[in-house]
Amino acid sequence: MDLYEYQGRELFARHGVPVLGGGVATTSQEARALAEQLGGRVVVKAQVKTGGRGKAGGVKLADDVDEAEKHARAILGMDIKGHTVKKVMLTTTADIAEEYYFSFLLDRANRTFLAIASTEGGMDIEEVAATTPEKVVRVPIDATTGVDHAKARQIVEQAGFPADVADQVTDVVVKLWETFTAEDATLVEVNPLVKTPEGAVLALDAKVTLDDNADFRHPDHAEFADISAQDPLERAAKERDLNYVKLDGQVGIIGNGAGLVMSTLDVVAYAGEEFGGVRPANFLDIGGGASATVMANGLEIVLSDPAVRSVFVNVFGGITACDEVAKGIVQALRLLEERGEQVTKPLVVRLDGNNAAEGRRILDEAAHPLVERVDTMDGAARRAAELAARGV
Ligand SMILES: Nc1ncnc2c1ncn2[C@@H]1O[C@H](COP(=O)(O)OP(=O)(O)OP(=O)(O)O)[C@@H](O)[C@H]1O
Ligand SMILES: [Mg+2]
Repeated sequence: MDLYEYQGRELFARHGVPVLGGGVATTSQEARALAEQLGGRVVVKAQVKTGGRGKAGGVKLADDVDEAEKHARAILGMDIKGHTVKKVMLTTTADIAEEYYFSFLLDRANRTFLAIASTEGGMDIEEVAATTPEKVVRVPIDATTGVDHAKARQIVEQAGFPADVADQVTDVVVKLWETFTAEDATLVEVNPLVKTPEGAVLALDAKVTLDDNADFRHPDHAEFADISAQDPLERAAKERDLNYVKLDGQVGIIGNGAGLVMSTLDVVAYAGEEFGGVRPANFLDIGGGASATVMANGLEIVLSDPAVRSVFVNVFGGITACDEVAKGIVQALRLLEERGEQVTKPLVVRLDGNNAAEGRRILDEAAHPLVERVDTMDGAARRAAELAARGV
C-alpha cells in the first residue's frame, strides 16, 4: 500500500525523523483554520499518490492565512496525472539552503535492500539520475546486518554529503532505516531532505510504501487504508479474503488458481469479440480447495456487480476434486437463495481435471435452471460471452 505524504510524515515523526509541524484539510476553510494555527506562513501541498506534484502546481507557498486559503481552494479538486486532489497538507515552511535525496527500498532484482542517496535532490532528481548518474549513489544493504550508525556513516560518505551536515544526515539515515524495518515498508523516500540556512536537516517530503503481506503485524496500519478510493466490490471481496479485481466488462469470472483465471480473462475477451466486444467483468481466484462458502462468497460478489450479465465458472480440478467443486456450486446457489439473494444471471460452468466426470454428474443432477455446463474452456467462454451479449 502506498501512503499519502501526510501519513508517511506521521510514520517519520514516530521514528524521530525530523519533519515540520502541520496537518491536513479537505476544504479551504479547514485549510485557513489550520494555517492560522501554524502561524500564517505555510506550504500547501496536494495529497495524491503520484509524483511530480510540485511541477503540476500542487505545492504552493503561502505568506499568510488568506493566501493559504486561496492556494487550498485552487489545489483541492485539481487533477494530477489522473488523481483528483481531495486533501491538502499544510506545514510550516523551511528556508532551504540545499536539497538532497535519500531512499531505502526493496531491490527485487538483486534480492536485497538498497539505499539511494544524492546531494542533488529536489524536483529534478530524475533528471540528475538520467544525465549525471554518478551523482546518485546506490548502496546495497545486507538484510541480516541492516543499517547501524557505522553503515549509515559509510553511505553518507559515499554519497559525498558535506561535512557540516554529515552527522545529522547519518542520524536521519539510521532513523529512516528504523522506519523502513519497524513498519515493514518496501520504500521510504525523502525528496527533498533539506539543509536550512541555519544548518538543520529536515525531511520536507515523505513517500512510504508498506508491505501488505505484513499487515498482520501492524493493526495500526489499518487507519492508512484509503477506503473512499477503493472500489466497493473490491473492498467487499477483501473483507471476505477473496482475490478479486474489478474490470470493466460484462462476463463475471470465477476460477481456481491465478494462472487459470488470467488465461480465462484472455479467452473470454477473445470469444467476446464475436459478440460486439463483450469483455471480462472481473478477476476472481477462489484458490485451491475452495469450499462451498468460498464459492458462495465469490458468486455473491460477482453477481452483485450490476455490469455482470453472465458468469463463467472455470475450474480445473487438481488437489481439489471437481466433485467437491460441483457440490460447492450447488450449495453456493442454495446458500445465496437462503441469504435472500435473487440469482437471475446465467452461469456457465466448465469442470475439468481430477474427478471431472463425477463433478459434471452432480451438476447435471442438480439441474439448476440457470446453470449450463460446457466441457471445454473455449466453448464455455464463447457461451458465456454469447449470454452476456444477449443480456439475459
Ligand atoms: N515545508 C516546505 N518549506 C519550503 N519549501 C518546501 C516545503 N515543502 C516543499 N517545499 C519545496 O517544494 C518542492 C516540492 O515539494 P515536494 O518534494 O513535497 O513535492 P514534489 O517533489 O513535487 O512532489 P513529489 O515528491 O510527489 O514528486 C520541494 O522540492 C521544496 O523545494
Ligand atoms: Mg518530493
